[in-house]
Amino acid sequence: MSLFHALIPCAGSGSRAGTAQPKQYQPVAGQPMVMHTLQALAAVPGIASGWVILSPADDFVWPQTGWPAHFRRQACGGASRAESVFKGLQAMLGAGLSGQDWVLVHDAARCLVTPAEVQRLIDACRDDAVGGLLALPLPDTLKTEAGGRVQQTVAREHKWLAQTPQMFRLQALHDALAAVAGSGFAGITDEASAVERLGLQPRLVEGSAQNFKVTYPADFALAEAVLRSRA
Ligand code: CTP
Ligand code: MG
Repeated sequence: MSLFHALIPCAGSGSRAGTAQPKQYQPVAGQPMVMHTLQALAAVPGIASGWVILSPADDFVWPQTGWPAHFRRQACGGASRAESVFKGLQAMLGAGLSGQDWVLVHDAARCLVTPAEVQRLIDACRDDAVGGLLALPLPDTLKTEAGGRVQQTVAREHKWLAQTPQMFRLQALHDALAAVAGSGFAGITDEASAVERLGLQPRLVEGSAQNFKVTYPADFALAEAVLRSRA
């Protein structure tokens, strides 16, 4: 029987967030942001293990409490998100996990994900030949730009914003990323894009607008407000 594992890329510096320390360690609603992320994933009953991928240079002092017992930290992160994920997958396979197991890759900076929506992704993809991702149908009108002015309005039908988790078979995702490692993972901004390069079509599972990625300074207050509203 295939197991489900979480892989959390946590090796970024958060350059757009404007914080002194990497954004995933910034306090949000009483804890470092990443602790909310880990606790949401750990609360999904089917997730057998969690792998948090840190930068080798990371010197964060983790809180004494709240760490999920079935999660572990690996200081094998790389220069890009894709490289951190690839190195994490290598560590998981190296530790003896089955390549047939599922891996759910989820951004440390997406601290508002809920156990229910992770479960929805699992239920939608566990019998799928490829795998899939949480995503959001584009809510707004989409424009292309040239020189600060609208060039064109693009029809929003059939356009989705990719979120995480993204769920694939461990070996299949490893191999998809290995195939683009030589180019320095150029253009690979999520797991699905590497899988798509193989001609496969990951399943889109509707997520929630609340599962946004904390990216810019103003996002912290919004994340805090949402977490406090749930408490
Ligand atoms: N990430 C990673 N390794 C990297 C870069 C990013 O593990 N070399 C992780 C981040 O820690 C984050 C997730 O990938 O949890 C999503 O990336 P992003 O939001 O872009 O975070 P940063 O790269 O840290 O931020 P920025 O792009 O603003 O520098
Ligand atoms: Mg980044």
